[in-house]
Amino acid sequence: MEKTFAIIKPDAVERRITGKIISKIEESGFNIVAMKKIWLTKKEAEGFYAVHKGKPFFESLINYMSSGPCIAMVLEKENAIADWRKLMGATNPANAEAGTIRKEFAIDVEKNSVHGSDAVDTAKYEISYFFSNLEFCE
Ligand code: CMP
Repeated sequence: MEKTFAIIKPDAVERRITGKIISKIEESGFNIVAMKKIWLTKKEAEGFYAVHKGKPFFESLINYMSSGPCIAMVLEKENAIADWRKLMGATNPANAEAGTIRKEFAIDVEKNSVHGSDAVDTAKYEISYFFSNLEFCE
């Protein structure tokens, strides 16, 4: 079974819509095998988003991701990586399809409520950035 990494971002936690987002995740057939609430430091956010370093939105993204707590999760299901990206919708909610989380809840391209890994290697790296093996319920 494939695993992917997911974050419910600070804008969604602040607006108290984590329950609604988690319901959508469960209704879509994902098994949540690990989950925790965590408030990233700037350094931790920079490490997580290192691939975006140098991009015009990087500094603002780091400030936003360290502005409050988020919910980190490991989701499991067949085709979890692609299916979670489909359920999230496009990065920019203006381009997201109806029925996706970002279409329904995201504020803008930065405060887009959720994150998901984009490939198998990225999922492995992102899961290990947040979770140890002891934190999995399989
Ligand atoms: P995420 O899927 O977590 O990956 C990088 C994040 O950077 C993205 O979601 C947004 O929160 C943020 N971001 C801000 N501006 C942009 C942009 N123009 N393009 C892509 N990502 C952006």
